[in-house]
Amino acid sequence: SLHTVTTLPTERQPGCPFDPPAELVDARRHGPISRYTHPGGKPGWLITGYDLVRSVLADSRFSSRKELLNVVDFEIPPAPPGEFLLMDEPQHGRYRKPLVGKFTARRMRLLTERIEQITTDCLDAMEKTGPPTDLVTAFAKPIPTIIICELLGVPYQDRDSFQEQIDKFMNGEPSEEELIAAYTATQNYLAELVVAKRANPTDDVLSELTDSDLTDEELKGISLILLAAGFDTTANMLALGTFALLQNPAQLAELRADPALADRAVEELLRYLSVAKTFMRTALVDVEVGGQTIKAGTTVVLSYNTANRDPERFTDPHVLDLHRQDGGHLAFGHGTHLCLGQQLARIEMRVAFSALLNRFPTLRLAVPAEEVGLRPETADIYGVKCLPVTWDA
Ligand code: HEM
Repeated sequence: SLHTVTTLPTERQPGCPFDPPAELVDARRHGPISRYTHPGGKPGWLITGYDLVRSVLADSRFSSRKELLNVVDFEIPPAPPGEFLLMDEPQHGRYRKPLVGKFTARRMRLLTERIEQITTDCLDAMEKTGPPTDLVTAFAKPIPTIIICELLGVPYQDRDSFQEQIDKFMNGEPSEEELIAAYTATQNYLAELVVAKRANPTDDVLSELTDSDLTDEELKGISLILLAAGFDTTANMLALGTFALLQNPAQLAELRADPALADRAVEELLRYLSVAKTFMRTALVDVEVGGQTIKAGTTVVLSYNTANRDPERFTDPHVLDLHRQDGGHLAFGHGTHLCLGQQLARIEMRVAFSALLNRFPTLRLAVPAEEVGLRPETADIYGVKCLPVTWDA
């Protein structure tokens, strides 16, 4: 009989900070697709199998449109102009297309030196202040935040106006009121910025985009998506990734001994940690998936992190193996919404992990592993709240 999951777990198993919640791994064991009830009581499906997640992501009969989400018993408004993550073609492509050329592997490689410089600055500051320190505030957060700010043309010194607010509506457990306040504050900040860029264009993506037929409203939405997607994901990969390496000392030693392993290590950490863990899609028509009929208008939850631990796709999926050859993880998604910033994120991680391990050969946790605070499963992006580390100065 078909496995049923009634609620998504809010926490992971104690002592297993890197593994998807046991209920999801268990669901995959029963089969790649399970019946599921959304928190608002609406019937849905939960997909945990690699092949099925990938096929839904490649299937235009499934929609990303926000207003179609059938998960609560009130109407959800459509995504505001420019927020293309939650749109379908042709709107999605109209926003994504002008951005693609600005995020190519080649353009991102040109940024490498700047990423190295920012990383060095963070490490210098850490050395100066001395151990112990919180790796999140000293390292994991500033590197991707400074980069996305510079790329987009958002003043880094204004980060209090957006970073904390974005954190609140993506990962906090705020009240409805706080959520709206945080979202509105970010919107207002970006609206002013767009007007300023139009008046005085500078050398950055946002200024370049003012030279198109996109409206101020649309540019504001695009900026919000790029900011929200641009720092929190990579920041959590850096902090949680360091935690995972420190908890796997043999793997860490191999990476230290062979710096050429860094690219492969980044891919394996992406698979193993899958910090962007779940996304949803809604069926536009009746679709058969894994032998089940998903009725038009039903929303499915796609568990990217469980799919990336699928034993039918990856050998020993729950083992962190930096030498792993079976690529093709779904950590950046798949299909039309495939992560726009994947090349940037890869370079940031390769540079940052390598430099950190190089600078501090004796890097270790400053608290017992069980005391490292983890984000709840309700957060959009998984990770640690902070990561106290120390080293021999
Ligand atoms: C989309 C993951 C870094 C920008 C996505 C999606 C995933 C993802 C899974 C697909 C969502 C879906 O299927 O609906 C990650 C991870 C990152 C990362 C794990 C870091 C390790 C970045 C960075 C940027 C970025 C640095 C900066 C520009 C975007 C954008 C989209 C996206 C704009 C939406 C694409 C679209 O809807 O067409 N990301 N991301 N991401 N990501 Fe990333």
